[in-house]
Amino acid sequence: MSLDLVTTDAFASQETARQDSPLAIRGLTVSYGQKPAVFSVDMTVEAGKMTAIIGPNGAGKSTMLKAALGIIKPLAGTTTVFGKPVAQQRQKIAYVPQRASVDWDFPTRVIDVVLMGLYPKLGLLGRVRAAHREKAEDCLARVGMQDFATRQIGQLSGGQQQRVFLARALAQDAELYLLDEPFAGVDAATEKAIIAVLKSLRDAGKTVVAVHHDLSTVAEYFDNVFLINTRRIAEGSVVNTFVSRHLQDAYGGRLAGAQMDALALS
Ligand SMILES: Nc1ncnc2c1ncn2[C@@H]1O[C@H](COP(=O)(O)OP(=O)(O)OP(=O)(O)O)[C@@H](O)[C@H]1O
Ligand SMILES: [Mg+2]
Repeated sequence: MSLDLVTTDAFASQETARQDSPLAIRGLTVSYGQKPAVFSVDMTVEAGKMTAIIGPNGAGKSTMLKAALGIIKPLAGTTTVFGKPVAQQRQKIAYVPQRASVDWDFPTRVIDVVLMGLYPKLGLLGRVRAAHREKAEDCLARVGMQDFATRQIGQLSGGQQQRVFLARALAQDAELYLLDEPFAGVDAATEKAIIAVLKSLRDAGKTVVAVHHDLSTVAEYFDNVFLINTRRIAEGSVVNTFVSRHLQDAYGGRLAGAQMDALALS
């Protein structure tokens, strides 16, 4: 086989992967000022898996997600969701932003926050029917928040708010779930509850992508990892990709050898 053919085959299989992928990002560059926060990043998310986005503070993780979703405008790059431009696929995507970025003083009841997840399905007249309310209550129950339905969202603790926003994402019945640090600032019980919900989504064939900081739980929680520090460092299965070489590249000197040893990485 000639070299040309090998290259063409590799390209063809990459193209197939991109077209089938729940989330495929190509050449994404985002800049808030002179220096890019995300530079020429490619990502191809595998369907039906849980993928962790990993990298140090300021690595561009949130920026990458927001730009991929069209929430902020990239300088360059394209994003497809199941092979189509992201703008045509909104109904298939549930996005839970990083907690610090949401206005928690907004005077809304918990049940209404969850019902917002159903808005695309309510149709033009947008009447909330008993069935919608039941669905919203069911989603609250899945995250253990059924007793808080009529509370104001601002009157919940941080971990409780996080659960409510997960319930809203569940109400969307999406195919692709994007969560920016779903475990930040939550207690161990809430973390376990959230991971159980995410794994049940994955086991039902959905695709879950979460920004994750706790390197000690990556192997337990996730199938795949995507390492970033402005540029893409590596992506693939936890076994092949969550290795000290790539972590050093992502974190540089910030991750001490002892931490690597504790993770028992190859
Ligand atoms: N709205 C903004 N205006 C200017 N600079 C920004 C803005 N948002 C983020 N940045 C900068 O862009 C870079 C990437 O930020 P981003 O929030 O994407 O990082 P991150 O990987 O999500 O970090 P963290 O782990 O702390 O959440 C950082 O240097 C940050 O200071
Ligand atoms: Mg972030």
